[in-house]
Amino acid sequence: LTQEEKQILLNAIRDVQDFPKEGIVFKDITTLLNDKNAFSLLMNHLEKRYKEYNLDYVAGIDSRGFIFGAALADRLNIGFVPVRKKGKLPSTTVCEKYELEYGFDEVEIHLDAFHGKTDAKVLLIDDLLATGGTANASAKLIKNVKANLVEACFLLNLTFLNGKQRVEQHTPVYTILDV
Ligand code: PRP
Ligand code: ADE
Repeated sequence: LTQEEKQILLNAIRDVQDFPKEGIVFKDITTLLNDKNAFSLLMNHLEKRYKEYNLDYVAGIDSRGFIFGAALADRLNIGFVPVRKKGKLPSTTVCEKYELEYGFDEVEIHLDAFHGKTDAKVLLIDDLLATGGTANASAKLIKNVKANLVEACFLLNLTFLNGKQRVEQHTPVYTILDV
C-alpha cells in the first residue's frame, strides 16, 4: 500500500477515548467497515497479498477477526475457521489460556477445524495487535491441531505494547498500519 492508501485506512478508523475504561484509546473499526471505499481498499490489498500464498484456510480471531477473515477467505475461495473465546464452540475443542491485563481468558478451536488435514496452510488474522496475548494463544491452538501457521496478519499494530515482537518469536507477522 502507498502512504496515501494507508492514510485512507487510518482516517477510516475512529479513536474513541476512555473506552472500555479511562485512559484507553479504543480503535473503532466499525467506521472502516461502513466506508465501502476504505473496506474494499483493504480487502483488495489482502486478496492481492495472500493469493500468492496458496493458503488452505483463513483462521479469524473472535470477534473482529471474523469480519476480515471471513471476507478474505471468500475472496481466496478457501475455508474460514473461527478461533473463539471459551464456551462458544459446540463440538470437541482444544483450548489455550492466556494472560490479560487483569486475570486470564481462554480461546478455543474445533479439533477437526482443518479436517484433520496435517500441514494445512493457515493464515491467522485479527483487526488489532496489542499485547499479542490473544494472537499467541491462537497461534498455539493452530499448531496444536497440527496445521501449518504460515503468517499472522493484523490491520493495526499498537507498537507501544510490543505485541509484534512477542508473536514474531514463533510466527511471521504482517501488520498493515503501525500506530
Ligand atoms: C481485541 C482485538 C484483539 C485483541 C488484541 O479483542 O480485536 O483480538 O483485543 O489484544 P491483545 O493483543 O492484547 O491480546 P477483544 O478481546 O477486545 O474482543 P472483541 O474483538 O470481541 O471485541
Ligand atoms: N484491543 C486491545 N486494545 C485495543 C484498543 N486500544 N482498541 C481496540 N481494540 C483493542
